[in-house]
Amino acid sequence: MQNSTQQGPQQNPGVVPRDRAVRVVQLTDCHLGPNADYTLAGVRTYHSFLEVLQRLGADPGNADLVVVSGDIAAQGVAAAYQLFSREMRTLGLPFAWLPGNHDLLERISDNPLLPPFKPVVELGSWRLICLNTAVEDQVGGYLAAEQLAFLDASLQALQSHPVALFMHHPPTDIGCQWLDRQQVGNGAELAAIVRRHGNVKAGFSGHVHQEAQVNFAGIPFYTTPSTCFQFAAGSDDFALSLDPPAYRWIDLYPDGSHATGVIAIDNTREQVDTHTAGY
Ligand SMILES: [Fe+2]
Repeated sequence: MQNSTQQGPQQNPGVVPRDRAVRVVQLTDCHLGPNADYTLAGVRTYHSFLEVLQRLGADPGNADLVVVSGDIAAQGVAAAYQLFSREMRTLGLPFAWLPGNHDLLERISDNPLLPPFKPVVELGSWRLICLNTAVEDQVGGYLAAEQLAFLDASLQALQSHPVALFMHHPPTDIGCQWLDRQQVGNGAELAAIVRRHGNVKAGFSGHVHQEAQVNFAGIPFYTTPSTCFQFAAGSDDFALSLDPPAYRWIDLYPDGSHATGVIAIDNTREQVDTHTAGY
């Protein structure tokens, strides 16, 4: 695996050879606050983020690209993105990001140490498409008309490439009623585009702070646990679980197939407060 020592916006994951599998790592829902001791649901989110980065950094397979799928910050403050950019630079792997409902896109873009939002990333024979499902002042997701039009045109132009979709909100139910109400509101429109082109091989999101795999528009769609606290699977109402911070690895093969799994930080020093009423 490529283990680039380059840092910052100049990183170029597109140099990965087309004849071998590429590894993507998905980090999501970091909820970083304005300082290192900011705590949510009993978890110091910066410290759990560091635990995940240390585990990732120690993995000899590492990653050709890290995708951070939104809610980087808990409240969209500039200091949170400074913590994020500093630690991602220390990690030293190429990375891409997309915004979540807790982020402020302009704030992320204002940080000169972060790469710009890149909707299409070239990675070997694969193309990753990052969509923005965040809506200002709204918890739930939605794909604006220009996002759908962009995806439609991109999939048409990328007919010879397998494509993986990344977004913050899942576009369909994952079996938690309170979170299912926050899914991408017009997921059916997304599904129609995915089905029409046939080159989207898998999709990945965050937001739901739990691992799930569902069928969406004929492709496997995966959700990924947060780098801080997790929500209880199968719950009708807000509920936290004791599951530790985690991240997802995704191996993308040249023939369009993929393999994926989640790595949890079982020895985390952070302790979830399950009595928390919200976040
Ligand atoms: Fe979210």
